[in-house]
Amino acid sequence: MKKVVITPAKSFSLGTSEIAPDKSISHRSVMFAMLSDGVSEIENFLRAEDTLNSLEIVKHLGAHVEDDGTTIKISSKGIQEPFEILDCGNSGTGMRLFCGLLSSAKGHFILTGDKYLRRRPMKRVTAPLMSIGAKLDGREDGDFAPLSIRGASLKAFDYESKIASAQVKSAMILAALRADGICKYREPELSRDHTERMLKGMGADIKTDGLQTTITPLKSLLSPLKIRVPADPSSAFFFAVAAAIIPGSHVMLEGITLNPTRIEAFKALERMGVDIQYDLYDEKYEPVGNITVKYAPLKGIVIEDKIAWLIDELPALSIAMACAEGESVVKNAKELRVKESDRIATVVKALHACGIAVEEYEDGYKITGGELKKAVVDSDGDHRIAMSFIIAGLKCGMEVSDLDCINTSFPNFFSLVQKITQVGFL
Ligand code: S3P
Repeated sequence: MKKVVITPAKSFSLGTSEIAPDKSISHRSVMFAMLSDGVSEIENFLRAEDTLNSLEIVKHLGAHVEDDGTTIKISSKGIQEPFEILDCGNSGTGMRLFCGLLSSAKGHFILTGDKYLRRRPMKRVTAPLMSIGAKLDGREDGDFAPLSIRGASLKAFDYESKIASAQVKSAMILAALRADGICKYREPELSRDHTERMLKGMGADIKTDGLQTTITPLKSLLSPLKIRVPADPSSAFFFAVAAAIIPGSHVMLEGITLNPTRIEAFKALERMGVDIQYDLYDEKYEPVGNITVKYAPLKGIVIEDKIAWLIDELPALSIAMACAEGESVVKNAKELRVKESDRIATVVKALHACGIAVEEYEDGYKITGGELKKAVVDSDGDHRIAMSFIIAGLKCGMEVSDLDCINTSFPNFFSLVQKITQVGFL
């Protein structure tokens, strides 16, 4: 499948429980199972390329995995030195969290990934881990994969991160669990907190006080994880934007994590005028509920804080901004430049192609709402760019190429789009 042609949609009403399971939680679930000597049970695991790569890696690390297609059961006798190179594919989360997990494990480990991942900066995790005694290396002085890790004893730390990154925080928390004393981690803005919630749920001593996390190293192995992975708000958000740009439309997105560090993009859509309801129904490890989104005319918005809480949704939000009345501005979002693509450059280029006035900044962009026009957009191998512009196609028609990347996070994306409009594959 090289290219897709999307036909403009009429007003639609969609209720779905088929939003892809959460990617962040799925990665963590298989990794954290390695920290228990019991049988962890994971339901609704995301069966997409990124997370299946993490599952494959834990098998190479000696985990025993039973999968009946519904529940994945994982038991581990501790991390074993692998015979294979560990391939994280396209996933920065996989690579960065495994760095933390493996830094203190006995043995030698090589982590690699696809051509996009091998271009993404890793020093943000390798440098703080090396500063506490981890033996890591990689291209350009440890900044780029392939990375090699030789497990080592780690020192207790008090580390202040300059970036609000859950990947860096999680790598350091995983390292802290095996360090030689109590560790403190601070970040400039709270990043997503799935690692803390899940490890606490398994019995780890982790305390969060504002922007500071205090981790006491493990005295024994953790209790097994028993989790049903909720649906991914970042994946759900594409359909929230769909309802927000097609007059008269309505979606009900079921079983989504309502973790406040993950639903800020929905809050931004609300500030743009859309009517959104959140119905919480569960609260184990994570708050979970349904999100209902109803069309309303959109107005421009400025986004300059809580960036870590909506960073992954900014490409899809840029489509809502392009359809809004007036100007929208995104600032303080330099992190967009080091995602699966340089998302400031890819969003600006693709919106220009769609006839929208966009000004590029080093740390964001300004979008003047207007009339989106059908264009040919290349995703640059970035799943969120591909899906965002397919959703834009619901408004004006679109041709989007380089689509395989969608399989990294949302393999059934097209089956949901087909419930809204005609999709032609070329
Ligand atoms: C993730 C953290 C975020 C996010 C990524 C998933 C995670 O990255 O963009 O898609 O699961 O920890 P950063 O930690 O680099 O901000």
